[in-house]
Amino acid sequence: MEKKASHRKDKNIKNINKDNNTRRSGAAREGDSIIRGMAAGDALTSETAPVFSHLPVMLHSAVGGLAIKPGGVYVDCTAGGGGHSEAIAEHLSGGGLLIAIDRDADAIEACQKRLSRFGDTVKIVHDNYVNLPAILDDLGIKEIDGILMDLGVSSHQLDTIERGFSYSTDKDAPLDMRMDRSSPLDASIVVNSYSEDELCRIIRDYGEERYAARIAKRIVEEREREPILTTRRLSEIIKSAVPAASVQHGSHPAKRTFQAIRIEVNGELDAIEPTLRFAISVMRSGGRASVITFHSLEDRIVKTLFTELSVRCTCPPDFPVCVCGKRPSLKIINKKPITADEEELKMNPRSRSAKLRISEKI
Ligand SMILES: C[S@@+](CC[C@H](N)C(=O)[O-])C[C@H]1O[C@@H](n2cnc3c(N)ncnc32)[C@H](O)[C@@H]1O
Repeated sequence: MEKKASHRKDKNIKNINKDNNTRRSGAAREGDSIIRGMAAGDALTSETAPVFSHLPVMLHSAVGGLAIKPGGVYVDCTAGGGGHSEAIAEHLSGGGLLIAIDRDADAIEACQKRLSRFGDTVKIVHDNYVNLPAILDDLGIKEIDGILMDLGVSSHQLDTIERGFSYSTDKDAPLDMRMDRSSPLDASIVVNSYSEDELCRIIRDYGEERYAARIAKRIVEEREREPILTTRRLSEIIKSAVPAASVQHGSHPAKRTFQAIRIEVNGELDAIEPTLRFAISVMRSGGRASVITFHSLEDRIVKTLFTELSVRCTCPPDFPVCVCGKRPSLKIINKKPITADEEELKMNPRSRSAKLRISEKI
């Protein structure tokens, strides 16, 4: 039953691409399945779209932070289940344009269904948001009025066991963790071919895991016995590498390592800075960037860029006159990141680590 449904789903994605075959010549982009010029209502039906469960985090603050102008052009880089996109499209009140991007085919299907009522106001694009310059170029758009990023994984990705993101040992799945299932690097390649040092660095830096060295060493020992191909086996190996006392207290012992491997597989930190910098460069005065992060390294990237673009002269203080000529292009709206309130935390514990930063183009 499951298999048939997902078969039908894949077929629909292919049909959409074929029917909208307006890609320019040039390098193929992620997934080779950008959905060109497709209005939100073009294809999928409620029978074919997958059930997509994800509660949008800090919905009102993040979308409110965009200070949406009806008729403006907005980009949601991480459309997921379409929660933030839907709210943006509602604010556009029938005019303007929302470009909703995601690299995950399941998210694209969910957005097709959820955003269909907005017709031509919403363009849905299956791509990596790092390709934003080409995406805007293809749509003939030179300037935008705002960008939203809600980084990390969706609940749908985490909770769909066969996607391999879950460290739960109750159910088993192939080690995958790819947001875009056509991308060549998956979690089994990372776990079975990276050196012990590389694994240690990834688990320590991306997972902020204090037992990174022990876990990396155990992974390498175990994979020499037999390749590690499933989430359950990896989870058990990690559990066996950390001290028993730390297993009893706190979160699941594999949580941080799984997060680290997922960040590596999807290159999650690499695309943020260049995309935001580009988006701000093509933003009209008064346009806003609203970014939700879930990891300290993500937040640091956003904070550093916003600070860089918002400072005035960077000449040493003892220079009599400015020689750098630097003018700020951004105004930071909230110096301290906004976090989820108690009510949201109760409803959606995954919002606990979320931080929202907003800035405005001068
Ligand atoms: C936290 S979810 C977004 C949820 C969404 N805001 C909602 O309201 O449903 C993050 C989404 O971003 C997507 N994503 C992450 N990195 C991406 C990238 N580089 N390019 C495109 N999509 C990406 C993931 O596939 C995932 O669906």
